[in-house]
Amino acid sequence: MKYYSIAIDGPAGAGKSTIAKKVAKHLNFIYVDTGAMYRAMALYFIRNNIESIDKDNIEKACGHVDVSIEYKDKEQQIILNGENVNGLIRTEEVGNMASAISIYQAVRLKLVELQQDLANRANVIMDGRDIGTYVLPQADLKIYLTASSKERAKRRFLELKERGISADIDEIENDITERDIRDMNREFAPLKQADDAVLVDSSYMTIEEVADTIIKLFEKIR
Ligand code: DC
Repeated sequence: MKYYSIAIDGPAGAGKSTIAKKVAKHLNFIYVDTGAMYRAMALYFIRNNIESIDKDNIEKACGHVDVSIEYKDKEQQIILNGENVNGLIRTEEVGNMASAISIYQAVRLKLVELQQDLANRANVIMDGRDIGTYVLPQADLKIYLTASSKERAKRRFLELKERGISADIDEIENDITERDIRDMNREFAPLKQADDAVLVDSSYMTIEEVADTIIKLFEKIR
């Protein structure tokens, strides 16, 4: 049986997960949030006081850290060594650590296997940094979703505010820019637009407009 896959890549805070969830719901696809997998690994390293520059211990840990996913009410649950850590991975600290440890090939290869396996078993919409370029190079539709760093910082700020977390918008923008630079310049599977990806700049688009654009593009090739 042929399973469809849609890849959405782009920088931090571009709205990938919000959009991907919407599109997944509309098409009845499974949404796979690959960033959450890197975040779970990051949480493990933070908890075990392993620093992001400690390549040896990070590589060693990859042999015994288990990351898997389950679905509860169609929401992805991320399981780290048997513990559901969904509620613990959405902080800036974990996000920055995820970016820092995602440069290691050992970390990436471990998670890529899980991601490819999911795409072999269902229709998926998967978001991340290297989905169209490395994880699913044969994806049926590839989107590179971006927005200006100012706009992305504003969205993150509002999202945090909604969750009752106070933050400084300039600091968020600096964090985002730093993360972009690291994600785009790492040696192995960096963030970049795949040659055959459609560029969508969401700076001046609503969530609905972006989701609609992707759904229409998909309907054309289905
Ligand atoms: O999308 P996110 O903010 O949850 O991702 C956190 C970090 O994880 C991101 O800065 C880089 C890394 N990541 C990656 O390298 N490759 C992916 N496919 C997804 C995330």
